[in-house]
Amino acid sequence: MSRLTVLHFPDPRLRKKARPVAAVDAQVRQFARDMLETMYAENGIGLAATQVDVQQRVVVMDLSAERNEPLTLVNPEIMEKSGTEEMEEGCLSVPGFTELVQRAEKISYRYLNLDGEEIEAEADGLRAVCIQHEIDHLDGKLFIDYLSPIKRRRVRKKIEKQNKIRAL
Ligand code: NI
Repeated sequence: MSRLTVLHFPDPRLRKKARPVAAVDAQVRQFARDMLETMYAENGIGLAATQVDVQQRVVVMDLSAERNEPLTLVNPEIMEKSGTEEMEEGCLSVPGFTELVQRAEKISYRYLNLDGEEIEAEADGLRAVCIQHEIDHLDGKLFIDYLSPIKRRRVRKKIEKQNKIRAL
């Protein structure tokens, strides 16, 4: 296993669109293991391939308190959305920053698991928010895109300052 490098906003590579995975093979399974290792090491609850500069539609998540329920979604798609909910979100690509974001409260979704089987499921609460957040990443979208332009500019300045400090 190997840890991958997580891109940080405003890296333009976070804006790339990921392509569907053609076949869930050994390479995809290894990539998912590496993504999970990276997500756990960085204390995240979700990670999308776009964040590690791979343009494939793969997402990993673990919403359990014990950090022992890894889940990989290949080619995830939201089929239906309903309701609205506001939740405080953060992102491994936007370190040190959280903000309230409004999203659908309930979703039905489908994906391929690591055996290549198609799974259909429903989610609400944190799971629904996380899936929407991660699929956004695959489309080159970040949670701060939902903020007002003024707030977004403030985030950008703050993060650019952090990046400069890190580069010294
Ligand atoms: Ni994120």
